[in-house]
Amino acid sequence: MIIELLTREHRNIERLLAVLEHELDIFDRAARPDYEVIRAIIAYFEVYTEMYHHPQEDQVFARLKLRDPAAAARIGDLAREHQKGADRLRRVAQAVDCVLADREILRQDVDSIVRDFLAHERHHIMMEDREFFPAAATALRPGDWTEIALAQSRHKDPLFSDAMEARFEALRKHILQLEQEAEAERQ
Ligand SMILES: [Fe+2]
Ligand SMILES: [Fe+2]
Repeated sequence: MIIELLTREHRNIERLLAVLEHELDIFDRAARPDYEVIRAIIAYFEVYTEMYHHPQEDQVFARLKLRDPAAAARIGDLAREHQKGADRLRRVAQAVDCVLADREILRQDVDSIVRDFLAHERHHIMMEDREFFPAAATALRPGDWTEIALAQSRHKDPLFSDAMEARFEALRKHILQLEQEAEAERQ
């Protein structure tokens, strides 16, 4: 169940990455991308991915280390990868802020910062889908999943709730809607 949710979230993230890439292509042609869309995607990653998706994966990974240390070792240092992802996202946010504030930054630098983020996120998701999730599905015991789910509800963390899930879904829909409108205007 947890793996299914995380996998589904990967597909959502990929959709947002594709939108971000599309906006970047427009930026590269020296045209004006939709900055509202770009900032909404950054905000989505800052909140949902960093505060919700990654911590869940970290919990699953901690269990995998216990149940199958060799498999965990092959995957490497997941928490560190998440930290590096957060750093790349921060650089994207700063670059976009620079552009919007008309501070000096080369278009080429903005491009490579965002492309670097896109490439690493996609690679990370692919690794998790192909290696991490199957290894966890095989090695973790039913009790592990129950405990992970329990730990989340015990937290009483408002992030781990259906209401929050619904809000993030609304945010994704909003982003895709904005993107459609921006596309229609560009026609
Ligand atoms: Fe991850
Ligand atoms: Fe992930």
